[in-house]
Amino acid sequence: MPICPAPSESSGSGSRVWIFHGLALGAAAAATAAAYVYRRPRGFRSLAVGIIPARYASSRFDGKPLALILGKPMIQRTWERVMLASSLNHVVVATDDEKIAECCRGFGADVIMTSVSCQNGSERCCEALQKLRKHYDIVVNIQGDEPLIEPDIIDGVVMALQRAPDAVFSTAATALKPEDAFDTNRVKCVVDNQGYAIYFSRGLIPFNKSGKVNPHFPYLLHLGISGFDSKFLKIYPQLAPTPLQLEEDLEQLKVLENGYKMKVIKVDHDAHGVDAPEDVEKIEALMRARNIQ
Ligand SMILES: *[C@@H]1O[C@H](CO)[C@@H](O)[C@H](O)[C@H]1NC(C)=O
Ligand SMILES: *[C@@H]1O[C@H](CO)[C@@H](O)[C@H](O)[C@H]1NC(C)=O
Repeated sequence: MPICPAPSESSGSGSRVWIFHGLALGAAAAATAAAYVYRRPRGFRSLAVGIIPARYASSRFDGKPLALILGKPMIQRTWERVMLASSLNHVVVATDDEKIAECCRGFGADVIMTSVSCQNGSERCCEALQKLRKHYDIVVNIQGDEPLIEPDIIDGVVMALQRAPDAVFSTAATALKPEDAFDTNRVKCVVDNQGYAIYFSRGLIPFNKSGKVNPHFPYLLHLGISGFDSKFLKIYPQLAPTPLQLEEDLEQLKVLENGYKMKVIKVDHDAHGVDAPEDVEKIEALMRARNIQ
């Protein structure tokens, strides 16, 4: 695809113009490339690490990260997806369990051992962040129970924090299926017109006075992925639990109740979380149907 006419087809002056254009274009391209390389580490919140917290014990599914999904451990499937995210400078698995660590090292993952006392994923991420030698501006907590997570969603969560300096937390939501409306394991959220979170609930929000699902309302289902500003992640575990957080049993409410801003990106994603052993067969059937190896 020639940008300028070939010199042989031009007059003498035309060829000079062509050369000038060529040089100008080349110089501009070089300048852009240099600026890109130079600027990237200096941009706002430019360094991001993805952390996959994985613990052995689980309320409904012991050893869940090692469960085989079409022959591959679930944690490996998640990790492989996360490795495809172009916004991450580094990816680690954070675990308290030697078997999980060994398995992860076996397929090439970087592993950080965290204590058994971590109460939940964000605490584990916080401990892992402190054990990482390098500084990162953004930490993305990717739950290991969504083995079909799209790398684009991870990139979107990172970008949301880079573009919204007033937010300390970012997450993703997708269209809620009507059959999940009253499932308390499916967390719903509502956002303002700039995409900042207003509230999360296990109940259906907003609530229609008919008491039924309004087929015309675009309800949002919260997905288990969160991006933190790393400075915020360090203080997050120390913030005392808050009333709404405790009542809904939703950790992210603590962020909102303390007055911090959270950005929610809307994505197209069919959530297939693995919470219980019977979910493995469901996800395998889906992968076969979609020809995912
Ligand atoms: C509630 O849901 C119905 C459909 O089920 C819809 O027509 C109505 O506009 C919704 N909102 C209110 C305030 O009724
Ligand atoms: C999870 O961790 C947060 C932050 O570390 C903590 O405040 C919260 O109480 C924990 N939630 C549960 C359910 O353990």
